[in-house]
Amino acid sequence: MTEVVDTRAALAQARGALTGRVGVVMTMGALHEGHEALLRAAREEADHVLVTVFVNPLQFGPNEDFDRYPRTLGTDLEICRRAGVDLVFTPSRQEMYPGGEPRIRVNPGQLGEEHEGQSRPGFFHGVLTVVLKLLQLTRPDLAYFGEKDYQQLTLVRRMVRDFDLPVRIVGVPTVREPDGLALSSRNRYLSAEQRSAARSLSAALRAAVAAAEQGADAAEVLAVANRTFSALTATTPDVELDYLLLADPDLEPGPEVGPARVLVAALVGQTRLIDNMAIRLAPTNS
Ligand code: PAJ
Repeated sequence: MTEVVDTRAALAQARGALTGRVGVVMTMGALHEGHEALLRAAREEADHVLVTVFVNPLQFGPNEDFDRYPRTLGTDLEICRRAGVDLVFTPSRQEMYPGGEPRIRVNPGQLGEEHEGQSRPGFFHGVLTVVLKLLQLTRPDLAYFGEKDYQQLTLVRRMVRDFDLPVRIVGVPTVREPDGLALSSRNRYLSAEQRSAARSLSAALRAAVAAAEQGADAAEVLAVANRTFSALTATTPDVELDYLLLADPDLEPGPEVGPARVLVAALVGQTRLIDNMAIRLAPTNS
């Protein structure tokens, strides 16, 4: 049985009745197989699974897609039921922010201003603020986040560490379409032509991983990835690369050897897409 609540009071009561280890999956709804992978991971590990569905206004910029962000609550609840979710929290904006938008926000620090944060000012302040509030309201033992949003996952881990929050963060690998495109609620905005060009992100990352496996150094890896991206978007004028970069697994700047992360972001038409993969940089021979 999946219980659905939309007030803090009902959540507190239903949460209080759950015994054992509670795993939370926070979402903005429009659930797809990427979210389902998180639900499965939670189902396997925790005694009870709690899902939150809330399109968080704090993390949308003035020119972003808050109003047109897909809202599919009926289907979302069906997916939760099939996945064996125990409790779904679907608060309204008023329920989450009864005093209006909070004046105090979590400061994500330097990393929050970089990459996604550079193109989307205030984005990670909004994300971490709502994640902290939802952790307070749901009091989980475990919280599941997708590697798809790697900078978000990294910042949530850091917040939990820096604030001594009593929860374990679990990262879940990215679920992809057969051609490599990472599943995202925003993929539905893409036209057929844009959808085809969108595979350039994962293709560039794969090319980077393959080049690194063959011993290419960081500069060569990025050059290969950039060439792959350009080749696959040459005939699509409305694709704009934002960044394509290497960082260490905690997103500290550029490792030269060993485990690393390669990350990409691009605007495809009006739609911002992001992706990333693990990569291992081989030591150079020189
Ligand atoms: P949303 O975009 O709905 O994503 C909810 C969770 O699903 C995030 O942890 C995200 O990384 C994960 N996810 C999305 N697509 C995925 C994919 N293809 N494979 C694996 N995991 C995937 O991220 C948010 O919402 C919000 O920022 C939120 C954390 C809910 C705060 O508002």
